[in-house]
Amino acid sequence: MAFPLNLHIILFLLSSTSISITNGAFSEQNPITLPTKRMEKTTHLHFFFHDTLDGKNPSAVRIINPEKGNFGTTFMTDDPLTEGPEPSSKLVGRAQGMYAWASQHDVVLLMVMNYAFIEGIYRGSSLSVLGRNPPLKDVREMPIVGGSGVFRFARGFALAHTRWFDPKSGNAIVEYNVTVIHF
Ligand SMILES: *[C@@H]1O[C@H](CO)[C@@H](O)[C@H](O)[C@H]1NC(C)=O
Repeated sequence: MAFPLNLHIILFLLSSTSISITNGAFSEQNPITLPTKRMEKTTHLHFFFHDTLDGKNPSAVRIINPEKGNFGTTFMTDDPLTEGPEPSSKLVGRAQGMYAWASQHDVVLLMVMNYAFIEGIYRGSSLSVLGRNPPLKDVREMPIVGGSGVFRFARGFALAHTRWFDPKSGNAIVEYNVTVIHF
């Protein structure tokens, strides 16, 4: 008696992995594919972020300047990402996005950025960072919420540590370790 019942369940499970639901040209929903078809990978990236506010060619510009205080102050960036800490080190990508002073009580930034890479197999691929960055903390953690190219379906986190900061100009060099899971 038990055998036909089990067989029925097995047949159901097998068939359910191949059902896709389509709705015209707009959408198609598929069951999660088996790992043999599309393997998840973990990638670690290590690079340095150069934020330059002064000089002839600043890489970050203030785009919102509130009348009172720092809260709301917003910068647009196109910051070089390099292999080593020196500004002359090999360029591996650019941090294109915005950061804004997001707290009325503490030193906290809202980061909304795409890290676009140009090096090796990562050329043309990007990672999206959306997170809270208290820059005075030794190591900050920010979520990686997505990606494109080789980083499709990316999720993960970035750890950031300020290597160098000039209080006069606001220029900074920040070390990043990024860990992402992607397909
Ligand atoms: C990044 O990883 C390297 C190597 O493990 C380590 O020396 C460094 O302290 C890490 N930095 C951050 C900001 O996590």
